[in-house]
Amino acid sequence: DVYGPGRKNSEGLDLSIKAVRDQLTAAVAKLDREELEAGPIISGRLEKAGAFKPALSPSHLSRTLGRAWQATPAQADTAFAAAHAAQPGWDRRGGEGRAKVLRAMGDALETDRERLISICVREAGKSYADAIAEVREAVDFCRYYALLAERQFASPETLRGPVGETNQLSLRGRGVFVCISPWNFPLAIFTGQVAAALAAGNGVLAKPAEQTPIIASEAVKLFHAAGVPEGLLHLLPGDGATVGQALVSHPGCDGVAFTGGTDTAWAINRTLAARQGPIVPFIAETGGLNAMFVDTTALREQVIDDVLASAFGSAGQRCSALRILFAPHETADALIDGLKGAMDTLVVGDPADPRTDIGPVIDTDAKAVLDAHVERLAAEGRVLRRLEVPAGGHFFAPTLAEIPDAAFLQKEVFGPVLHVVRYDPAKLAEAAAPLVAARYGLTLGVHSRIEAFADEVREAVPAGNAYVNRSMIGAVVGVQPFGGEGLSGTGPKAGGPHALLRYAVERAVSVNI
Ligand code: NAD
Ligand code: ALA
Repeated sequence: DVYGPGRKNSEGLDLSIKAVRDQLTAAVAKLDREELEAGPIISGRLEKAGAFKPALSPSHLSRTLGRAWQATPAQADTAFAAAHAAQPGWDRRGGEGRAKVLRAMGDALETDRERLISICVREAGKSYADAIAEVREAVDFCRYYALLAERQFASPETLRGPVGETNQLSLRGRGVFVCISPWNFPLAIFTGQVAAALAAGNGVLAKPAEQTPIIASEAVKLFHAAGVPEGLLHLLPGDGATVGQALVSHPGCDGVAFTGGTDTAWAINRTLAARQGPIVPFIAETGGLNAMFVDTTALREQVIDDVLASAFGSAGQRCSALRILFAPHETADALIDGLKGAMDTLVVGDPADPRTDIGPVIDTDAKAVLDAHVERLAAEGRVLRRLEVPAGGHFFAPTLAEIPDAAFLQKEVFGPVLHVVRYDPAKLAEAAAPLVAARYGLTLGVHSRIEAFADEVREAVPAGNAYVNRSMIGAVVGVQPFGGEGLSGTGPKAGGPHALLRYAVERAVSVNI
């Protein structure tokens, strides 16, 4: 049973306890007195040479957190060579040996939790609740993939065959994976990709997002301290278009695990297609145009809570976040009024203040794209509510707008903007058609007390993760395996029982005695 009877997810911290809040604010204050450093970690050594960029905080534009050195092509060559040398030994340790190291990593993350949370708050602008969830998910990935390594990679599977012949199938590492991650889950997704590749018996060159090298450096140091050989795992921070592209096109790359935007996935796919030599797997988890369908039987207060969390939580910077709310003609006005009132209670501001609900968006570019989108909505008279936001950071006012249909949005809008479409639940297919035509397929929400309606929505709108009568964010490892279809991803789902299979090769051996 790969779901593991008795398996438990990490518990995290309870923010309703004052002592916990005080501990975390003290951890951030301590971090603020440090000059942080990140850079290429090649065979366990932080290399501080050549070009560096200031490490920034999206909530405090007047400060820098420290410096982040950028990886070079020579460092990539060295890292690939070292990882290829170390990988066969790691693969031969087998699933059980690797699981021990991954469990040690899970424990190390929990031990270092307060520091990691404070870095997520400062470097990624995460609220405390989100930063706690970030560490929990990273821990869960390590422990869950340890379990999969033990169950799926420990010993070969014996297959039925002719008498006198033994047939066995085993899973082995592919070689060296390039893991490329986004800034919006700078610890959880970074750690999840690396842990999956390692669990399956691979070496790893990890390229974190430009915006979040510091938390990635911390994670790599912890992996090494937990027992991952220094030659096996390397960190190569830098720009996607240069460092990322160089890693993907390198002949030493035996597979790519990527999470980020759909446009970037296309670019990586083109690079891989142009390579000579072995054809390597490309695991891509990308964006979404996520909708929730509400019918007239839905419980309004619950809908409002779940919509608020799904659309505005994490400043809307989740791939899973709700972008389009389909509200039935009959109850749309009441729902919109309720949403406006509930929005007014949200506090946008410094994520290091425990009273904050919504922190900043990540950087100037992200804010500019959102500004342009909301300017268009405003020019067309579609904005229903915008909140006030403080100055001094990349704070973006959560916005509620009404649009005629899903065709109005051609692409993912990555921030706290919720679009309402009025529709007739009896003509669901008609309302859903432009959404389906966009060909994303990540998350889907339904609020209804009629099971048949929820089933109808799920059949009409393909999505990797559907949520009925609850929020549509915060998939839990081993409970809601996460990942999309179509433009939203290739699978296998992160945190699910098949997660490791594309990181591995299958070897069949038939022996005639
Ligand atoms: P992004 O695509 O801009 O960057 C992601 C990573 O790709 C970064 O490390 C970047 O440096 C790298 N990169 C960029 N160009 C590259 C290239 N040509 N070659 C190789 N690497 C390159 O995404 P982002 O802005 O960091 O993250 C937000 C996006 O991620 C959103 O679209 C969101 O929906 C998506 N996302 C998806 C999931 C999921 O599980 N489906 C989870 C989180 C985020
Ligand atoms: N796995 C993240 C969520 O479910 C993206 O919100």
